[in-house]
Amino acid sequence: MASSPILIVGIVGSLREPSYTRMAVCIALAGAAERGAATKLIDLREYRLPFCDGSGKEDVGFPDVLRLREEVAAAHGVILGTPDYHGSFSGVLKNALDLMGFNEFGGKVMGLVGVAGGALGTVNALNDLRKVGRSLHAWVIPQQAAVPQAWKHFDDTGRLDDPEYETRLREVGQEVARFATLLNSDEVRHFLDLWEQAMPNPGGEGR
Ligand SMILES: Cc1cc2nc3c(=O)[nH]c(=O)nc-3n(C[C@H](O)[C@H](O)[C@H](O)COP(=O)(O)O)c2cc1C
Repeated sequence: MASSPILIVGIVGSLREPSYTRMAVCIALAGAAERGAATKLIDLREYRLPFCDGSGKEDVGFPDVLRLREEVAAAHGVILGTPDYHGSFSGVLKNALDLMGFNEFGGKVMGLVGVAGGALGTVNALNDLRKVGRSLHAWVIPQQAAVPQAWKHFDDTGRLDDPEYETRLREVGQEVARFATLLNSDEVRHFLDLWEQAMPNPGGEGR
């Protein structure tokens, strides 16, 4: 159905080791794999990135900027994972996103997952991230998953004690893969071609 194999990447917005965010992103990616997607974990700990200074020259002396951009640009869908930091998503993740833009995210399906130390979870962090996804022109899916009190629910191997959290994380990955497959299907491409050939403003002449 799709014109090329679907690739979903998961970006881990925590540099900590061990990271519950990383564990959550891995589970979401497993969900994407269940839908037949190839997956890749992008662990920002493994990238030496500068702060985005708006110059557009951040890649000078930092080849990992180009590596990150290329890896995300190659994906059909993206899962962003963040810890809750002071009621929002992490600066590490924001900086990585600021080093990229429409080239990497425009028209892509995006899913959001988060973890928190506290009981309230990451609702605000994920809502903030949703706005950023919109500004990057990504299609942010309505499903999202959060694990509050992550220290209590994950074990050392990344397994969750609560099947409901596990299911929700997997569902985010499954939905990202499902919509990425749909968006990249030959049938949808054909439909979009027809759409683009349509009159710019049907019935609107002379008004
Ligand atoms: C700077 C900072 C701010 C944090 N703020 C919050 C917060 O507002 N609410 C909360 O529930 N947890 C907060 N936490 C706890 C983290 O969400 C928690 O430790 C989480 O597991 C970190 O993700 P990680 O395991 O992937 O590094 C904060 C942690 C740090 C380091």
